[in-house]
Amino acid sequence: MKLLHRFFGPHHHRNAIHNLEYLQSLLSGRPFPVWAYILLTRKCNLTCSYCYVTEDKLKEMGLSTPKKEMDLSELKYTVDKLASMGTRWISFFGGEPTLRKRELLKVIEYASKSKQIFTQLPTNAFLLKDETYVENLGQAGIGLIDVSLDSVARFDASKKDLYHREEVFETLFRGRERHRYGIKTNLVLTKGNLDQLTPVMDFADRHNIIISIRLAFRPPIKPTGWKEETDVFFSSDPEDVKMVDDAANTILQRKADGIVTTEPNEYYHAMKRHVRGEAGIWKCDAGKHHLTIDSDGAIMQCSVLLDGLGTTVFELDKRYFEKLENAIEDNLRKCNDNCLAAAYFCSRHYRNNPTSIFAQGFLEKL
Ligand SMILES: C[S@@+](CC[C@H](N)C(=O)[O-])C[C@H]1O[C@@H](n2cnc3c(N)ncnc32)[C@H](O)[C@@H]1O
Ligand code: SF4
Ligand code: SF4
Repeated sequence: MKLLHRFFGPHHHRNAIHNLEYLQSLLSGRPFPVWAYILLTRKCNLTCSYCYVTEDKLKEMGLSTPKKEMDLSELKYTVDKLASMGTRWISFFGGEPTLRKRELLKVIEYASKSKQIFTQLPTNAFLLKDETYVENLGQAGIGLIDVSLDSVARFDASKKDLYHREEVFETLFRGRERHRYGIKTNLVLTKGNLDQLTPVMDFADRHNIIISIRLAFRPPIKPTGWKEETDVFFSSDPEDVKMVDDAANTILQRKADGIVTTEPNEYYHAMKRHVRGEAGIWKCDAGKHHLTIDSDGAIMQCSVLLDGLGTTVFELDKRYFEKLENAIEDNLRKCNDNCLAAAYFCSRHYRNNPTSIFAQGFLEKL
């Protein structure tokens, strides 16, 4: 019941309208972006070793960067556009979205209260040490706060540990009592933090937090300027394969013992095949049921690829898939075998296996 309330919201008369848009899209049989990411900025206050999506990293690789950041009215326009297409879940993404505090709070409030869309905030949470910021997010109606947590011990490769943000989780737990948002952590596994897998799972379990655990990945379509950091990404060398196998088996064992991850078991089995370089493990449907809107309004297939699809949110309409299908399929031929992005794998998996979502145990924690 709490879940239905969260997804379909407290204002039933207004919900009826927004759910109508969702139902219309569903009944049309046409693909529509049921969930979407909106990048508020590509700027960031950190420089994580594995990250390649920030403005600085794009410049380092010789790639173009968004020329502007959408202002509040453009962000609301984007929410309106997505709502009219049937979107039910928006993640405010980056870079680091909390850097644009005023716009972030207003657009979350607009999406969640005026449009009854479930809102999610992935963040490095450095700015959420400020209790007022967390309180403002709660008041704005945030549905789920995703705090990246790569390590319990000090971990300078990303600083997303407990050492650098000791008070953040306590602040978020207090806010959760008042505002009932969900808390999720994202753990990115690199060669440098495998020893932190169990401590992070213990932490999440102890505090009733959903956890997502994924491998650090390289850009699935590598730009020519890509330079790989050492000791971060896994290769298909036998010792790396063993490390990933061990990690996946540890996670599967802990899942069997009751920890709650957003990923189904199939994801961790896929992880073992992926590190061996196997092709054809899964078929991503980003671009079809998901869109990412870059900070300047450019439409992207997903948050992982670095090139847009050549159109903007201002031109987007319900027939977008017919127009973009060739470009989307063309990307997939190049990226799908190099990618195991957890959110996209899960969305595809749960769409195809709806009952599996109830077996995971995270819905009750949202
Ligand atoms: C791009 S960040 C944006 C939100 C925020 N700045 C943060 O770090 O939480 C979203 C998520 O992607 C993860 N991420 C970044 N680069 C990655 C990579 N190369 N492989 C896997 N996950 C990555 C981050 O750790 C974070 O959990
Ligand atoms: S905090 Fe997020 S956006 Fe910033 S560098 Fe790290 S992963 Fe990238
Ligand atoms: S497989 Fe999907 S999520 Fe991964 S890069 Fe391609 S379109 Fe993006």
